[in-house]
Amino acid sequence: MCGIIGYTGHRPALPIVLEGLEHLEYRGYDSAGVGYVLNKELTVVRTKGKLKNLRDAVSTTGSALTVTCAIGHTRWATHGIPEERNAHPHVCADKSLAIVHNGIIENYLEIKEELLAAGYSFYSDTDTEVLVNLIHFLRAKENDLLGAFSKALARANGTYAVCLIDVSNPGTLYAARKSAPLILGRGVGESFIASDVPAFLAYTREVVFLEDGEILVAEPEKHTIYRIADGCTVKRSSQLIQWGMQAAQKGGYRHFMLKEIFEQPRVLKDCLTGRINAQGNIVLPELENVAPPNRIHIIACGTSYHAGLWGQHLLEDLAQIPVSVEIASEFRYKERFLPDKNDLVLVISQSGETADTLAALERAKKEKIATLGLCNVVGSSLAREADTVIYTQAGPEISVASTKAMTSQMLMLCTLALFFARKKGLIDKRQRTLAKTLSSLAVLLEAQLPNMHRRAQSLARKYAEARSFFYLGRGHCFPLALEGALKLKELSYIHAEGYAAGEMKHGPIALIDSAFPTFVLAMNDSLYPKIRSNVVEIQSREGHIIALTNPETDIDVDDRWEIPRIIDPLQAFLILPCLQLFSYEMADFLGKDVDQPRNLAKSVTVE
Ligand code: M6R
Repeated sequence: MCGIIGYTGHRPALPIVLEGLEHLEYRGYDSAGVGYVLNKELTVVRTKGKLKNLRDAVSTTGSALTVTCAIGHTRWATHGIPEERNAHPHVCADKSLAIVHNGIIENYLEIKEELLAAGYSFYSDTDTEVLVNLIHFLRAKENDLLGAFSKALARANGTYAVCLIDVSNPGTLYAARKSAPLILGRGVGESFIASDVPAFLAYTREVVFLEDGEILVAEPEKHTIYRIADGCTVKRSSQLIQWGMQAAQKGGYRHFMLKEIFEQPRVLKDCLTGRINAQGNIVLPELENVAPPNRIHIIACGTSYHAGLWGQHLLEDLAQIPVSVEIASEFRYKERFLPDKNDLVLVISQSGETADTLAALERAKKEKIATLGLCNVVGSSLAREADTVIYTQAGPEISVASTKAMTSQMLMLCTLALFFARKKGLIDKRQRTLAKTLSSLAVLLEAQLPNMHRRAQSLARKYAEARSFFYLGRGHCFPLALEGALKLKELSYIHAEGYAAGEMKHGPIALIDSAFPTFVLAMNDSLYPKIRSNVVEIQSREGHIIALTNPETDIDVDDRWEIPRIIDPLQAFLILPCLQLFSYEMADFLGKDVDQPRNLAKSVTVE
């Protein structure tokens, strides 16, 4: 949530900062701003709304071209409504410091009271303005910015990533993080600080990951990392990002979301590379020394949570390991967590920066339970904190709505189930067929996607006027129904609920009438007769139905959408793209902002 960029180097900084913000806009887009020092004075430009407004307001010509150090921010509001006065950067009382911030300073009201008593005034509703004034207040006492910055951060509770500039030292960026991402990009004679790599990927692939409890001081030619606790410097080597700028661009697609849906065959291929050996066995070197656990506790949020629910079916069925799946924001505060010492906590997160998921991971670690992270972002907090990490290798996912990341998570959960099954000596003929079918999924999906897209388009036009939708499934299709409903509501703002089909008659069916359609996942599997009966119950109440089904079924509904039958539960890899494409087409047809839906942000770094 919120995107931060800072640049110091030999090039005009403002175009670089604006370009960086464009790549970070997925993190928040209700207001934006830049700050820089020109002629020994701090200049801050902030606008409400999308980045385009900021672009129109910021001059990048004339004397602005001589600015070679600047900070920028794109906001997802936490404290204070999206207005210019709440946008970042925020400046301190005498306009000597400007700061951009991602996260929440939980004790800001208490600090604000103290600063008000000391004569400070505030012009925004934000916690950020309090922080920059606290730094100013502490610096006034000692005339030492680094010391004041450290003390202010030590005082701040909550989560943050911040980047600060100082009028008296205009070519230097000061930055720190706590449970929110912040990365240094090292170029030749230039330094970048950003919430995410795409912000500076056009200039450098060399990165240094900052840790909690550290302060980074970045100048064009060098950078220094200090430990807040004792002021000592920290040596950290840089890493090379393996993917390039192309991966973070639309590549001719109308939206990132569409591109990412169509990338799924490639993602399936990449995720499986090196994971199946010549004997057809799953290889997970990350877990070679880990014994199959007695129980697995899966913890995640949103789409990753749905992937976890789907994975539960496989782990229980194939590896015969009991699994619980919990929403991270619930798990982190539950009164009792009673794990066994041979349990495994599996945290799933595309970004690896979701605040609730990280807190859940921390809780599991406190209980001294082995933790495994399933994560897409190399160097993310989750990847660094979990005992073991398996990367999902979906590549950068830019669209706020998660698509290819879920596919990659499901694939890795499937390999995990097969891996533990082998370790427990449970591999049978069905499991061998599953492993074999995994390798053919990419080709199958690639061939199906154009048809799926066309069908999604025509159905979206027919159902675009609906104000509510049910999504129904049973067994391993139930989590997919939840995900279908989530996608529809987040993209098209149409109310949608995912239900286990058998639950309908326990209440929800009361809502059904001719204006309340249902999207049913009716695969030709052992539960097909059950779901067909549920469909008839809905039809008896004049409900209209779209049924995603296989050619072999006899389900008679308003709209049959046929996809080829493949072995369960791998059918999910064809179901999920249909659900994604339907939501995409609904939203696009209704003129919604597909890649940046209202009120959302890609990376939820606040709780
Ligand atoms: O990065 P994470 O997987 O931890 O994110 C969790 C959710 O915020 C995320 O899956 C969200 O639900 C999706 N963007 C929805 O499409």
